[in-house]
Parts: sequence; C-alpha cells; structure tokens
Amino acid sequence: NKMNRLLLTGAAGGLGKVLRERLKPYANVLRLSDIASLAPATGANEETVPCDLSDKAAVHALVEGCDAIVHLGGVSVERPFEEILEANIKGVFHIYEAARRHGVKRVVFASSNHVIGFYKQSEHIDAHAARRPDGYYGLSKSFGEDVAQFYFDRWGIETVSIRIGSSFPEPANRRMMSTWLSYRDLTSLIEKSLFTPDVKHTVVYGMSNNREVWWDNSAAAHLGFVAQDSSEVFRDKVEQQPPVAPTDPNAIYQGGAFTAQGPFGD
Ligand code: NAI
Repeated sequence: NKMNRLLLTGAAGGLGKVLRERLKPYANVLRLSDIASLAPATGANEETVPCDLSDKAAVHALVEGCDAIVHLGGVSVERPFEEILEANIKGVFHIYEAARRHGVKRVVFASSNHVIGFYKQSEHIDAHAARRPDGYYGLSKSFGEDVAQFYFDRWGIETVSIRIGSSFPEPANRRMMSTWLSYRDLTSLIEKSLFTPDVKHTVVYGMSNNREVWWDNSAAAHLGFVAQDSSEVFRDKVEQQPPVAPTDPNAIYQGGAFTAQGPFGD
C-alpha cells in the first residue's frame, strides 16, 4: 500500500505531527501543509507547502500533483463562527474543488464526534443516525461530511469521514474513556481509509477498542479496521480524578463540554 504523493493538511497540529511520522510508509512523498510554521522537510520523502485553507488559489496549487488527501487542517475547537467559516467551511470546499479540478480521487476527512455531540451518552448510534452538531465547529464538520457526499455523488471522489473521538496520548478524563482513539489505531484507520477500494462516502467513528462505547461501526465494516488499543489500561489513573457531577455536560452528552460553549460576544 503505497502511493506517489500524499497531501497532509493540518500537518503542524497535534495529530499532524504524529501522522507526519506515521504516514511516511504509505507515500513516496508526503506533502505537508499548514498555516502555522512546519518543521523543515527532511530528505526526499517530505515537502512543505505553507497554505491558508481559506485561500482558494493557494489550495488549488497545494492539491495539484497529489494522489490523495488527508484533510486535518482547520480550527479544531469551538470558536466564533467567522473563524470556523474561513478555516473549516471555506477550507473544506476549497479542498474538494481542488480535488475535482486536479483529479484527486480519495480524501480522508477529519470529521468529529461533535457532529453528533447532542446525543446523550446513554444513547447508542451508528453512522446513519441523524447528525446533531453541538456548535459552530460541529456544524462545520457536518457541512464537510455533506461536501464529501456531494463530491462523491456528483464527481465520484471517494471519502472516508472519520468522526474522531479523542485522539491524544491518553484519555484525559472519564468521557474520553469512551471516545479515546490511540495514535496507533488512528494511523491504522487512516491507512484503511486511503487504500480500501470502493469506499464511496463512508462515515466511521474513530475510537479504540474501549470497554464502554456509544458508537456502532458496523456500517463501516468494509474498511476492515480493527482497533488494537483500549482506554481500559488507563482506567485506574482516570478514576483518580474527582467524579463528574451528573448535571455536568461532560456526564450527559456525547460531545461533552462542547455542548455548552458560547455565545461569543454580541
Ligand atoms: P490542531 O488544532 O492541533 O491542528 C489543526 C491544524 O490546522 C493546526 O496546525 C492549524 O494551524 C491548522 N489550521 C487552522 N486553520 C487553518 C487555515 N486557515 N489554513 C491552514 N491550516 C489551518 O488539531 P488536531 O487535534 O491535530 O486535529 C486534527 C483534525 O482532526 C482537526 O480537523 C480536528 O478538528 C480533527 N479532530 C481531532 C480530534 C482529536 O481528538 N485530536 C477529535 C475530533 C476531530
């Protein structure tokens, strides 16, 4: 499983830095992009291309010559709408328009659990459950999934939208015991998302093999993703934290605290 040139957006971010190392085996050249500064390219297998995703012409130049795109770039937390609009909403549109124009046939889109954040933690859902975004950020990811579906239906560009739970070195709190996605499992899921044939637009929940989960990935079984890790090994550590009040959004909603942000200013 190896392609010629793979574009990684958001390469200066938390997951981008991890994937910069871990995606190397899957491409002859990894093209790394971000609006933030990137560590210089090392060797012939990396190239860095600074780019603001809200700049259409810049994104078109960025995408030209790539065989596939792992799209992580954008605002990754809840922020005022105008910031989300530029980076995430215009950004994802520019990525797909550029993919169409330059013949890119596969995108892996970093979606989020915040597209379904207003489901309760007591509810169990699969990829076909109606979306319930929990803020502007979640709305932008929901839009991104719609863009992915449209560009498949209209132009045959395939996408795997990964609704990432919480991908950090360790689960940081009780909610993340359910949502945690290890870096190893993230990498494996992206590999499956890049190379599985005929994925159309597939939505998959990005979570490890955790004990108590809210999401059912049977609709994405064709990806062949089997999580290797589990948050369970961190349970004792996480449970040393004080208990979460039952009225706290972190104890109620799948999206946790994101469900209770804003308003921003006016
Ligand atoms: P991050 O915030 O560390 O990285 C995002 C990167 O996008 C940053 O380096 C930032 O400079 C870049 N960016 C922001 N605006 C930009 C613009 N206008 N043009 C170009 N680049 C821009 O986020 P992280 O944790 O690495 O997440 C990566 C992706 O995965 C994001 O799309 C995020 O929404 C998504 N995700 C991550 C989760 C996690 O647990 N880490 C959970 C759910 C989704």
